Amino acid sequence: MSHSSINLQFIVQPGGSLHGSVRVPGDKSISHRSIMLGALAEGTTHVSGFLQGEDCLCTLNAFRSMGVEIEGPSDDGNVTIHGVGLHGLQAPTHDLDMGNSGTSMRLMSGLMSGQAFDIKMTGDASLSKRPMKRVTVPLARMGANIEATATGTPPLLVHGGSKLHGIHYDMPMASAQVKSSLLLAGLYAEGETSVTEPAPTRDHTERMLRGFGYEVKTEGNRISLQGGGKLTATDIDVPSDISSAAFFMVGASIAQGSDLTIEHVGMNPTRTGVIDILRLMGANLDVLNKREVGGEPVADIRVRAVQLKGIQIPESLVPLAIDEFPALFIAAAFAEGQTVLIGAEELRVKESDRIQVMADGLMACGVDAQPTPDGIIINPGNFTGGTIDSHGDHRIAMSFAMAALCAQAPITINDCANVNTSFPGFVALAAKAGVRITAI
Ligand code: S3P
Repeated sequence: MSHSSINLQFIVQPGGSLHGSVRVPGDKSISHRSIMLGALAEGTTHVSGFLQGEDCLCTLNAFRSMGVEIEGPSDDGNVTIHGVGLHGLQAPTHDLDMGNSGTSMRLMSGLMSGQAFDIKMTGDASLSKRPMKRVTVPLARMGANIEATATGTPPLLVHGGSKLHGIHYDMPMASAQVKSSLLLAGLYAEGETSVTEPAPTRDHTERMLRGFGYEVKTEGNRISLQGGGKLTATDIDVPSDISSAAFFMVGASIAQGSDLTIEHVGMNPTRTGVIDILRLMGANLDVLNKREVGGEPVADIRVRAVQLKGIQIPESLVPLAIDEFPALFIAAAFAEGQTVLIGAEELRVKESDRIQVMADGLMACGVDAQPTPDGIIINPGNFTGGTIDSHGDHRIAMSFAMAALCAQAPITINDCANVNTSFPGFVALAAKAGVRITAI
């Protein structure tokens, strides 16, 4: 099934404010990893709060196709995985469809390199354009045998039966997907696999491996593990995704009179850049009821509207807010004064070219937004409204839905079906909180 072929449209009337409490769906990164490690563990893993978005379901279906018995997800996000051990997967009878999900394809490139059988991984139109050399090149150095297209894009054919050996890899870009892919291949490699990262990236793989009883060392910016161990089943409680919460943080910050609480949000310090950036812009965010859930920090976030101001976004926060920039650009469009982002060229290779697609959308709404090779300059002005092409990118669609809260005219957003990759139920939840949104 091609998700992006269904042209779902959001029509959002201007005005409104956000009130009450919302709980956004489970964390996408943690949900993917719970299936991967649960499947390869010895014993039965119970997951609660699993994100039933299409991306994570691609990962789940891939492991089912490789003989792993997985019960659920139930309506409330419970999944039971009967682990087969690191060497218990079976050859699938068909190609693995990774849909829109870069996380599935990149992390599984590493895992699949260590299997005894061949697999082919395919993706939708967006994933088929995304760079895979960032994983295939270092994995080849470990002894993996992976074929991509001539330009290094999917489909990927991973040949089984390779004998992997540990390497040290100095990552050229701050990418949790590259780090995770190599660490997962490292489970199957002889000796030590280590990576250094140029800036901190999300550490869910390291945390979860430890939760499954696997030793992972973190020494400064160097992360390492030894191959040849085993994973022991555990229970995982997935917090709400801060990346999904970000749309509501921005909406409640910009829409006058808003007072919204977002519950049970994952607060892993490698993910909270959006809170730091919004606070630098003057946002009124209270982090309440901090607690630890299954090895990950969680809190409720109360957001009250306030006039934001434009800022120069600190480059050090870029990897810690990498998925939240579409929403942050909307915040910047309603701030007082210019916002400048640099050092964020990675945004050009996400589900869409998020620098260009956001700049085009902002300009369609009357805002002066100048894309630069590695960022954007936003000069707020009259935000009229207009028609946006989301390019099938879930985060672009949801960001412009929030912009309507403060726009002068309706916003129509095209190509929104992929919102289901990360945030099933977005329209209903946004409407409940106060966004005047309908989907047709
Ligand atoms: C992810 C890492 C990030 C992020 C993506 C999920 C992960 O990608 O953009 O949505 O789960 O590891 P990069 O590692 O390529 O920056």
